[in-house]
Amino acid sequence: MMAQKRILLVVGGGIAAYKALDLCRLIRRSGLAVRAVMTKAAGEFVTPLSLGSVTGDKVYGELFSLTDEAEMGHIELSRDADLVVVAPATANLLAKMANGLADDLATTLLLATDKKVLVAPAMNLRMWAHPATRRNVERLKADGVTVVGPTAGSMACGEFGVGRLAEPADILAAIEAMLQGVTALRLPEGAWAEASANGPRPLAGRHVVVTSGPTHEPIDPVRYIANRSSGKQGHAIAAAAAAAGARVTLVSGPVAIPDPFGVAVVRVESAREMQAAVERALPCDVFIGAAAVADWRVAEAAEGKLKKESGPRPPLALAENPDILAGVAGRSSGRPRLVIGFAAETSDVVPHAQAKLLRKGCDAIVANDVGLAGETPGGVFGQAANTVHLVTREGVESWPTMGKQQVADRLVARIAAMLG
Ligand code: PMT
Repeated sequence: MMAQKRILLVVGGGIAAYKALDLCRLIRRSGLAVRAVMTKAAGEFVTPLSLGSVTGDKVYGELFSLTDEAEMGHIELSRDADLVVVAPATANLLAKMANGLADDLATTLLLATDKKVLVAPAMNLRMWAHPATRRNVERLKADGVTVVGPTAGSMACGEFGVGRLAEPADILAAIEAMLQGVTALRLPEGAWAEASANGPRPLAGRHVVVTSGPTHEPIDPVRYIANRSSGKQGHAIAAAAAAAGARVTLVSGPVAIPDPFGVAVVRVESAREMQAAVERALPCDVFIGAAAVADWRVAEAAEGKLKKESGPRPPLALAENPDILAGVAGRSSGRPRLVIGFAAETSDVVPHAQAKLLRKGCDAIVANDVGLAGETPGGVFGQAANTVHLVTREGVESWPTMGKQQVADRLVARIAAMLG
């Protein structure tokens, strides 16, 4: 019988440390054994008791512990495993590893180990983008350390960008691949942003323009017509395109979510302002219309606040807004190579999207069923997940329900493939 493989998991001190518990569960469920070492800072986020209960083993933390050294010295601890995994790997831990510092148990065993090392970084996006971290990661890779993640998305600090710990399932996939001696990891589709953050940047040199969020169509200076779009889907696409190396211009209606990192954001209110901002942002290689643009505006918005007392109920005569997507797709000169729209439908999602594809002259439509049951009326709007169909002239791909960032990552991967 083959001996059970052992993982030594070093847990760094970051908000993502709680995900180490999930990772331990997954590792054990896959038939591997796991033993954990915590840094002092990790103890601020998870307790040795909770880690010990998911590893089913003692948790180590002290370098100069007589009992631990008597049981298993730190050199032995570093060599007893088949693979050493650092998750989450903070910027501080990466810096120490890259420079060979050994001032606690975690860093000492990382310096003493003769086993392969996998790190899963997690930190604030600006820390991840900092030249010092970039240098440290490159040095670690040159030393033979494998890096999985981080991915793009919204962060605990309220910002949005690349810096989130890779999903525990993706870390486990990397662990299994390394144990099987696979050197070139095929990252799962959802991990596109992490692949591009670390390695190939398939949209490098491209300009991508994305619209996102709702538009507000004024009735008078204080009232407006709007919709339920939160901007989550469009912003996630902008972040994924930036992580894939593109120069991204995000034209956003009024939203309450943070700007994605590394993206030029143009803020607008109405459909007509959005159209003007898009025109100014062109030319581009790829245009993605994820905004929920109001089809109509109030024909003549009042200059002063409409008063209840000042006469009969005011009629709301509507005028049609310009169709931004159709305008970009129909350009006779300077048309982007790819024009991709969204279709928010509540019934017959795919047939409506196919009709929209032809009517608006786009290359692809991402159709989502916004009538799908959600916590609030309006399904997909404002929610974390989306169920979409990618409709092109060649056919229809129905994607499983996934997080909006995963939809974005997958769409960006498809765009990169379409551009060739
Ligand atoms: O923002 P979230 O809360 O994350 O929700 C995401 C979303 C549901 C808003 C998004 O996934 C989505 O479906 N966006 C498009 C919504 C929409 O307006 O669909 P539509 O079927 O009405 O429009 C079709 C396409 O034409 C869209 O690409 C839209 O941006 C574009 N359009 C529509 C009208 C108009 N005047 N100009 C346009 O460019």
